[in-house]
Amino acid sequence: MLKEKVAAALNAQIEKEMYSSNLYLAMASWAERNGYPGTSQWMYAQADEERMHMLKLIEYVNERGGKATIPACDMPPAEFESVLDLFKKTYEHECFISESINDIIGVTHDERDFTTQQWMQWFVNEQIEEEAQVSTILDKLNLLGETQNLYFFDRDIFSDRGNTTSSAQQ
Ligand code: FEO
Repeated sequence: MLKEKVAAALNAQIEKEMYSSNLYLAMASWAERNGYPGTSQWMYAQADEERMHMLKLIEYVNERGGKATIPACDMPPAEFESVLDLFKKTYEHECFISESINDIIGVTHDERDFTTQQWMQWFVNEQIEEEAQVSTILDKLNLLGETQNLYFFDRDIFSDRGNTTSSAQQ
């Protein structure tokens, strides 16, 4: 049976993963409207991964005798400045999520819930992978610099996902 504080922390994370999914959907929609089909596909796939993270948490809370609640969710922004802005915001958001995962692990430690602590390790690894993936994309965008010729970047970005999404499909 999950302790109350652990269940509360996991439920708060369900909301954050739902927001993440919606944020990336908003980014996908912006990219679709602004002529970046590759970036849009990348963001749609990212939104699906975040939804999968949310489902994983819901299932775990319920399986362990807790009560997973489905929250209302803040509306993400609809407008962004550029593709670089999308990925800068993605990186910032993923760092925020990593902190949140660390906070949950802190709660499991305080509550001596070592089962959940171990289970959360999957999310720790996922965050390492996601931060690294977005950081690589930012490096590429920064290399393009002032020219901001994004045609080839956008054409190639979706194929970059091939090697990096496997852990999210487990
Ligand atoms: Fe589910 Fe990218 O955090």
